[in-house]
Amino acid sequence: MAAPRLILLAAVAVQLLLLPAARSGRVFSVADYGAAGDGSRYDTAAIQTAVDACAAAGGGRVLLPAPGDYLTATIYLRSGVVLEVARGARLLGGTRQQDYPRESDRWYIVLAENTTGAGITGGGEINGQSGAFVVTPSEKKNIMVSWNATGDCKGDECRPRLVGFIDSKDVRIRDITLSQPAYWCLHLVRCDNSVIHDVSIFGDWNTPNNDGIDITDSNNTVISDCHIDTGDDALCPKSLKGPVYNLTATNCWIRTKSCAIKFGSWSSFNFKRLVFDNITIVDSHRGLGMQIRDGGNVSDVVFSNIRMSTRYYHPSWWGRAEPIYITTCPRYPNSKEGTISNVQFINITSVSENGVFLAGSKHGLLRNLKFKNIDLTYKRWTNYTGGLYDYRPGCEKMVKHRTGGMMLEHISGLEIDNVRMRWSRGSLKGWDVNPILFRPSTIDNLSFHDWQSVDIQ
Ligand SMILES: *[C@@H]1O[C@H](CO)[C@@H](O)[C@H](O)[C@H]1NC(C)=O
Ligand SMILES: *[C@@H]1O[C@H](CO)[C@@H](O)[C@H](O)[C@H]1NC(C)=O
Ligand SMILES: *[C@@H]1O[C@H](CO)[C@@H](O)[C@H](O)[C@H]1NC(C)=O
Ligand SMILES: *[C@@H]1O[C@H](CO)[C@@H](O)[C@H](O)[C@H]1NC(C)=O
Ligand SMILES: *[C@@H]1O[C@H](CO)[C@@H](O)[C@H](O)[C@H]1NC(C)=O
Ligand SMILES: *[C@@H]1O[C@H](CO)[C@@H](O)[C@H](O)[C@H]1NC(C)=O
Ligand SMILES: *[C@@H]1O[C@H](CO)[C@@H](O)[C@H](O)[C@H]1NC(C)=O
Ligand SMILES: *[C@@H]1O[C@H](CO)[C@@H](O)[C@H](O)[C@H]1NC(C)=O
Ligand SMILES: *[C@@H]1O[C@H](CO)[C@@H](O)[C@H](O)[C@H]1NC(C)=O
Repeated sequence: MAAPRLILLAAVAVQLLLLPAARSGRVFSVADYGAAGDGSRYDTAAIQTAVDACAAAGGGRVLLPAPGDYLTATIYLRSGVVLEVARGARLLGGTRQQDYPRESDRWYIVLAENTTGAGITGGGEINGQSGAFVVTPSEKKNIMVSWNATGDCKGDECRPRLVGFIDSKDVRIRDITLSQPAYWCLHLVRCDNSVIHDVSIFGDWNTPNNDGIDITDSNNTVISDCHIDTGDDALCPKSLKGPVYNLTATNCWIRTKSCAIKFGSWSSFNFKRLVFDNITIVDSHRGLGMQIRDGGNVSDVVFSNIRMSTRYYHPSWWGRAEPIYITTCPRYPNSKEGTISNVQFINITSVSENGVFLAGSKHGLLRNLKFKNIDLTYKRWTNYTGGLYDYRPGCEKMVKHRTGGMMLEHISGLEIDNVRMRWSRGSLKGWDVNPILFRPSTIDNLSFHDWQSVDIQ
């Protein structure tokens, strides 16, 4: 435990030492550059001119004063510039494709590329107006527009993200609300040394792909005191063109119709040294998840002091109410198989409608998983049918199977120490339950110490 604790201490030190710097420097108010703040005229030019003036002056703050609704096309942040959306002010993202640059991987309302020390703060809100992107509202899942007519983006997920930091260092985001993204919300790409603190994210509950925080190919990221309430995955490290090293997330509250903490499913490179501590997960479709599909290896991960409840939602959302869901099943039959090793689950309490799912693959074994001080309650409270293992995306898709407290497949090294399973029999009618279920595969080096499976009311 020494290493993770060190990361946590380092995280606190970084916040104390570096964040106040964002509050210093000259202030450039967009009001002085002609911003209307009326929510209907575009203030893009005023905001961008203020950002560029601030950068030219060596950095500082660009203030969006309250009250005001500042409608804008993409704003490009610069090194040393902190965008300060005052409490009571809102930055509204444009809802037309022409509001965004040509390349779809640069479709963000606020975009920082190649910056050092850029940030966002101020207590106000950045809002993506996702309602304008809904074609057909549905309580199951909204059908959304897709800007794919020009060919600059292909498929059915062509919508702008909210905030992006790409190839940037010393990113500082704190005390801000990010609402209604049309697609992903806060995205770090190839960043190093980022601090995200006291950020609240509110996505539409029925809108697909409105992830909370996606951390792609980035190192040394510290996330703390966040509140994430959204339809799609909430905290989501991904590796597409490079690895993810040293990510710490603490003191967060999460609710999602998908997976609360999810590794992948982009997973071509390695994930190493990630710590998730003191997290509350409420009514989510999945709790702690790893969908390693593309040959990256995951190692040295700690999940500690986590409370959660996981339940079924409409099956068009990935997830089957698993509190813990770990898989290396390859995306395509010819994909590489990554391994997952040295993962610790410590002090975890869950109330869930399904069991723990641990499925390695033939060449991608799960190695040395440890479960210590775990309290798993199994209970049904929604009407959705169970009895399915969900391997999506790709892989075996949905597989009919009996339900187990823990399902194990392709594992070498599993240590169970003080694990309690509680079965709420009254609510589990028709559930043919087994505390532990094995699928035919390599199962090696299991150790059980102080393991109990008991019925409760
Ligand atoms: C970022 O830096 C890379 C490499 O130096 C360069 O190719 C790219 O054009 C830069 N992008 C922007 C938006 O400045
Ligand atoms: C464009 O998006 C629509 C809406 O999601 C989808 O039905 C269609 O297949 C997409 N077209 C292309 C060429 O990807
Ligand atoms: C993260 O660290 C790894 C290992 O040192 C390195 O290969 C990668 O380029 C780093 N990524 C960034 C964005 O700094
Ligand atoms: C990860 O953190 C450790 C400990 O702080 C540090 O030694 C290492 O260089 C970091 N890795 C990367 C890729 O920055
Ligand atoms: C855990 O996080 C919550 C916020 O979600 C915070 O109020 C509480 O103080 C944290 N507990 C510890 C021990 O840090
Ligand atoms: C994952 O580990 C395997 C086995 O050690 C190795 O062959 C493969 O290159 C690793 N993958 C990456 C992305 O480093
Ligand atoms: C787990 O909980 C115990 C008892 O509350 C505490 O002493 C221990 O430090 C916790 N472990 C971790 C890794 O937080
Ligand atoms: C489950 O179905 C019953 C009967 O069809 C209905 O009364 C109840 O409201 C449903 N519960 C939920 C949580 O949907
Ligand atoms: C068995 O698993 C333990 C951890 O649970 C590990 O320390 C040990 O090296 C493993 N032994 C073998 C032979 O793989």
